[in-house]
Amino acid sequence: MTTNLPARPDRDCGECPRLRTFLLDNREKYPTWHNAPVDSFGDLNGEILIVGLAPGLKGANRTGRPFTGDYAGDLLYDTLLKYSLAQGEYKAEPDDGLRLNNCRITNAVRCLPPENKPIGAEVKNCAPFLISEIQTMPNLKIVLALGGLAHGAILTVLEKRKALYKFGHNVFHELDEVVLANSYHCSRYNTNTGRLTEKMFHDVFDAMISRL
Ligand code: URA
Repeated sequence: MTTNLPARPDRDCGECPRLRTFLLDNREKYPTWHNAPVDSFGDLNGEILIVGLAPGLKGANRTGRPFTGDYAGDLLYDTLLKYSLAQGEYKAEPDDGLRLNNCRITNAVRCLPPENKPIGAEVKNCAPFLISEIQTMPNLKIVLALGGLAHGAILTVLEKRKALYKFGHNVFHELDEVVLANSYHCSRYNTNTGRLTEKMFHDVFDAMISRL
């Protein structure tokens, strides 16, 4: 059993001035929302860590749980349920009782970025929390990057040269420490444009499960 908990940012983390200002603005506008860094969710003893981009305004930033209430969460949590990586019912609220089995979800950047676009310095400032997640999962085998930004952030914290590991959908990179799996992000934009279909997303999960 894991006893250590991964490092996490304080509610009032001030490392990224732009994100801090944006969160404070949103606390005024939406006082009942979470409006703070969003903690990881799931099983610290799991074999899979899923890394998203950053909380969405009306989703994780509102509810305080990664991908919860976000459009992207519908496909992600349905898929986790389909592959028995989650149990219960996903109701898009953090008190829905959903539990993750053998996997955990985090974000490369823990705070809501304007226009869903974190800048490089913000990804760098949040890197200690990502490496801490990876180091605190004793059974970790696969880190799934949802999108190119998460892929780059994982390579950076594992001190790998990006030129050697190109991002591609359903590509698996064998690193010394873990396998780095890639999927296009399950965002509304990607699913609406057909860049990512449900089948393509499921294909990644089939491949991951076959490697456990
Ligand atoms: N919500 C998250 O928590 N992360 C994402 O990458 C997208 C939506």
